[in-house]
Amino acid sequence: MAFQDEVADLCQACCDLAKGITIQTVRKAVVGVERKVPLYDGRQVTYVNLDNAATTPPLESVLKCSQMFLEWYGSVHRGSGLKAQISTHAFERCREVVADFIGADLAYHTVIFTQNATHALNKVAMHLAPQPDKVILTTVMEHHSNMLPWRKLGCEVHYVRVDPATGQLDMADLEDHVRRYAGRIAVVAVTGASNVTGVLPPIRRIARLAHEAGAQMVLDATQLIPHRSFKMGAPDDPERIDFVAFSGHKMYAPFGAGVLAGPQAAFEDRDPDYVGGGTVKAVTMDDVHWAPLPEKEEAGTPNVLGCLAIGCVIKVLESIGMDNLAEHERALTRRAIEKLRRIEGLTLYGLADPEVREDRLGVITMNARDLSHGKLAAILGNEWGLGVRNGCFCAQPYVRELLGITDAQMRGIVERLAAGDHATVPGMLRLSFGVYNTPDEVDYAVEALQAVLAHGPRATYILDRQHMEYVPETPTVCIHDLLPI
Ligand SMILES: Cc1ncc(COP(=O)(O)O)c(C=O)c1O
Repeated sequence: MAFQDEVADLCQACCDLAKGITIQTVRKAVVGVERKVPLYDGRQVTYVNLDNAATTPPLESVLKCSQMFLEWYGSVHRGSGLKAQISTHAFERCREVVADFIGADLAYHTVIFTQNATHALNKVAMHLAPQPDKVILTTVMEHHSNMLPWRKLGCEVHYVRVDPATGQLDMADLEDHVRRYAGRIAVVAVTGASNVTGVLPPIRRIARLAHEAGAQMVLDATQLIPHRSFKMGAPDDPERIDFVAFSGHKMYAPFGAGVLAGPQAAFEDRDPDYVGGGTVKAVTMDDVHWAPLPEKEEAGTPNVLGCLAIGCVIKVLESIGMDNLAEHERALTRRAIEKLRRIEGLTLYGLADPEVREDRLGVITMNARDLSHGKLAAILGNEWGLGVRNGCFCAQPYVRELLGITDAQMRGIVERLAAGDHATVPGMLRLSFGVYNTPDEVDYAVEALQAVLAHGPRATYILDRQHMEYVPETPTVCIHDLLPI
């Protein structure tokens, strides 16, 4: 069989695995949802994962497709053997699938595979690196990965305020910033969705303002892409997104690949940020000719398996339909908020409308009156088998705003954070839903929170000062016994 046919067969097999997965059947297609875990007292329960904003479990079809592909695994862009050629073609096919999914036009845009969203955001920041007299506009609600890369560039960075009551971006403040720094704004860098409150900033309106100000619009779409349909927009659309960054592992595609897409022109007349193998056409002892895009920006051997996983997942998401997925997650969110807000002693942050009239993601943060977020998370994990996250979620400035922490309080907190204490400093507990979560799982989490807030913990917890987390005084589980290697 000609290798083109082999690739076509492989792609067809991957598409067939995805085809037919619907919002009703997707749970069966997720790896590990029936996993039993031991509790502090030795009982076993089915693990309930409500930590999808951190990372998502893989899809069965991704694993199967990866396994089929591994028969053909070889060196991308470098070998003449059939396996190398198939690997190269599969890798490039994934790029087309990604481009199609996010509405990138490969005649105008380049889709660069990265390690993750953080890598992608660092890369775009380094490439855009404006002159020192320019201004970067970003927001208080950003994940550190869309905040710190901009600070490194040496130009002024200004942060648009949020409303601490709702967690939403203060659009009047954004407009004010645009007026104040007119003519100097090079980049507007905003999240597509908050990993703390699930707030969805009005990205099209922001993009229009950015373009009217002559700036480029960078979107951290890490939380948006797995939950809402998204298109970059045509190059002449005033509401287009110029650059978009996201990670595979938050969209059911583990194995460590991410994406940065943007106009080719932004990368063309510049040296790549990372240099070495794969980035060049020719090298002499004193000269170098760079490879064309996107290879120029993908230094070293690429992560073909990670990229394949993203391609496979996109096929599944398309089969489910992003609107069906969004509606399912909205229903879970409605259910959760409606029940959580009735729990005595529980404070919810951000948008708390039980009818979810304003669209938002299924990311819900909270605090209990009499228990720290660190201890509450430990109780839910050890006594209920619930996977949640606590702390500041790599968005410390935003969490600080939502919690109303003063400058004076912050100084002490920074010292403790710098010492590695993420468990006893102020923070929050977060539940975050994925496409495979069920109403029963939401109810289970609500029941657990209700019981813990009403009756307290069943076990005694101590603070493990080495890892700064709460653990049962007499643990029944030895993590080391469960490790795969
Ligand atoms: C909004 C947002 N941006 C960026 C990131 C960074 O993603 P990664 O760790 O995959 O690079 C995260 C991770 O939580 C996120 O939630």
